[in-house]
Amino acid sequence: MELPRAPRINPSILAADFVNMQAELARIATADFAHVDVMDNHFVPNLTFGPQMVQRIQETSPIPLDVHLMITDPERWAPGYAELGAASVTFHLEASGDPISLARRLRDIGSRAGVAVRPDTPVEGLFPVLDEFDQILVMTVEPGFGGQGFRSETLPKLRALADEARRRGSRVWLQVDGGISDDTIVQAAEAGADTFVAGSAVYGADDVEAAVTRLRERARAASLEG
Ligand code: DX5
Ligand code: ZN
Repeated sequence: MELPRAPRINPSILAADFVNMQAELARIATADFAHVDVMDNHFVPNLTFGPQMVQRIQETSPIPLDVHLMITDPERWAPGYAELGAASVTFHLEASGDPISLARRLRDIGSRAGVAVRPDTPVEGLFPVLDEFDQILVMTVEPGFGGQGFRSETLPKLRALADEARRRGSRVWLQVDGGISDDTIVQAAEAGADTFVAGSAVYGADDVEAAVTRLRERARAASLEG
């Protein structure tokens, strides 16, 4: 599969109408990946989809899936999402006993492997092992709910990751998720993010396709300057 180039815009279907999922997926056909938030009511205090629903989303989506697992025990569940065909599977560092082994399993199955960190989780421990992952997700809100405000205190972490990736010549993608809008996407892109999840900013717009285009253009302009 040819991979979409940066800046990538991944609409979060958490903000979509769950009972019209097929139509909601069709609306984001010009975006890069459909971001699928899996929550287990344990790692986070909210509950969304499981493997059966994600399987149908995979069969229905016009664009590849970027699955974000906000779940306990990703060692048990994450490989199943790679097996059903998700292009990218991201689990939380805080939930994993052995993130490197899990990332290797995901890659062996054929998916991209991502690791996510909550806003307060340090990232220095990832520096020596950056290339074990295809994507690092820096959460810019506390995971669990859409529609929260962007936490700009996470930006130094993003900058540190971007510097380290550059220093090492790493091709790892740097993703942000939470509170991404026309304004905050500029800050995140300047700090080095290349992959942007947006829920309410996309599905809350009157014209979803125009919102995706605008976010992409604003991120592109900011990263050229940054
Ligand atoms: C939050 C989820 C996000 C959420 C983002 O826990 O991981 O993907 O959908 O929603 P917005 O863009 O509305 O902050
Ligand atoms: Zn998410």
